[in-house]
Amino acid sequence: MQVGRKSCWKQLQASFFRLLCLLPTGFPVRSVDMQRTTDNITIRQGDTAIIRCYVDDKVSRVAWLNRSNIIFAGQDKWSLDPRVDLVTKGQLEYSLRIQKVDVYDEGSYTCSIQTKQKPKTSHVYLIVQVPASIYKVSEDVIVNEGSNVTLSCLASGRPDPIITWRLLNPSGEPRAAGWEEFLDIIGIMRNQAGRYECKASNDVATPDVKYVNVVVNYPPTIQKIQSSETPVGRVGMLQCDANAVPKPEFEWYRDEKRMTNTQSINIQMLGTTTILVFSNVSEEDYGNYTCVATNRLGIQNASVFLYSECTQHLSPLTQPLL
Ligand SMILES: *[C@@H]1O[C@H](CO)[C@@H](O)[C@H](O)[C@H]1NC(C)=O
Ligand SMILES: *[C@@H]1O[C@H](CO)[C@@H](O)[C@H](O)[C@H]1NC(C)=O
Ligand SMILES: *[C@@H]1O[C@H](CO)[C@@H](O)[C@H](O)[C@H]1NC(C)=O
Ligand SMILES: *[C@@H]1O[C@H](CO)[C@@H](O)[C@H](O)[C@H]1NC(C)=O
Ligand SMILES: *[C@@H]1O[C@H](CO)[C@@H](O)[C@H](O)[C@H]1NC(C)=O
Ligand SMILES: *[C@@H]1O[C@H](CO)[C@@H](O)[C@H](O)[C@H]1NC(C)=O
Repeated sequence: MQVGRKSCWKQLQASFFRLLCLLPTGFPVRSVDMQRTTDNITIRQGDTAIIRCYVDDKVSRVAWLNRSNIIFAGQDKWSLDPRVDLVTKGQLEYSLRIQKVDVYDEGSYTCSIQTKQKPKTSHVYLIVQVPASIYKVSEDVIVNEGSNVTLSCLASGRPDPIITWRLLNPSGEPRAAGWEEFLDIIGIMRNQAGRYECKASNDVATPDVKYVNVVVNYPPTIQKIQSSETPVGRVGMLQCDANAVPKPEFEWYRDEKRMTNTQSINIQMLGTTTILVFSNVSEEDYGNYTCVATNRLGIQNASVFLYSECTQHLSPLTQPLL
């Protein structure tokens, strides 16, 4: 039956449609209860749409059309789409059900009703929405301070998603970063490093979120270094902190001479901090020590003193010497 119909389908469809169109429309028909004549139905991709159409027993002919295709003529299914069927309640309802709605189903649907004298059509526009989805986002990046950085975040969805960028700083409040799919950072600073969140939203479903990590390299700056007054026989410590990305390497010098671990002196490295530990301070230990912090972007040094009350005239230096 399907095969036989197929051969003359086009012809049939054309004549049926012409018939429906040629008949006058627009008369208010009391016996037919329908939805407003140009209604929009919004549905999410994958859901089931029911496009309502109500009729009564005075109706002689009914049909559903999708653009210019006949989907149903009476109880006769013309569409080959298995997702499509009718929802009928006795003779009073003639609604169209589309399961697993997809974007190509978007468009206008017409319920065409013919009573003995007066035909009427009802148009419904089906709008198919698709949740926002990020399909491409920048890889994590490592750049030097001062570079220009462009992050991208491409998303699809219906309606078109809105993209927002935020910098989720490890050390505080998220900072506003942008409203575009491309985020341009001119001359990036160290405080602009961190985890960038890209959010795509279109109010169809919960927003889609992706992250890009941005590492900003910069040369060492010695933050804190303090001279220490320590009496003979005590444990002495000189500490030096340096900010740097990548993490700094440290060296200690006494005057011009590079220091190494000895029985009484131990050099400790703790990330961005180094501590010079004198296990038992002696007179010979008093003097000028220089901390040198290095990474591949640069080098900085600063000098301090280990001193006793009696050598205090050397006046402790707390500023980096540059
Ligand atoms: C239906 O949606 C269109 C846009 O797709 C809009 O222009 C129109 O105003 C809407 N009609 C109704 C009745 O909401
Ligand atoms: C509506 O018509 C289009 C082609 O014009 C077709 O791709 C789509 O599957 C149809 N939808 C239904 C529900 O029949
Ligand atoms: C960064 O961008 C600015 C402004 O567009 C430009 O003047 C500068 O030359 C760029 N710097 C680099 C390293 O490309
Ligand atoms: C520190 O050194 C002095 C002199 O060499 C020694 O007399 C003393 O016992 C040492 N103290 C400790 C805690 O090792
Ligand atoms: C301490 O040593 C450093 C490195 O040798 C030197 O540059 C600096 O002038 C010295 N500071 C003092 C006060 O002698
Ligand atoms: C410390 O820095 C100064 C100036 O950059 C440099 O002249 C000196 O050699 C450095 N000292 C050491 C021990 O690296």
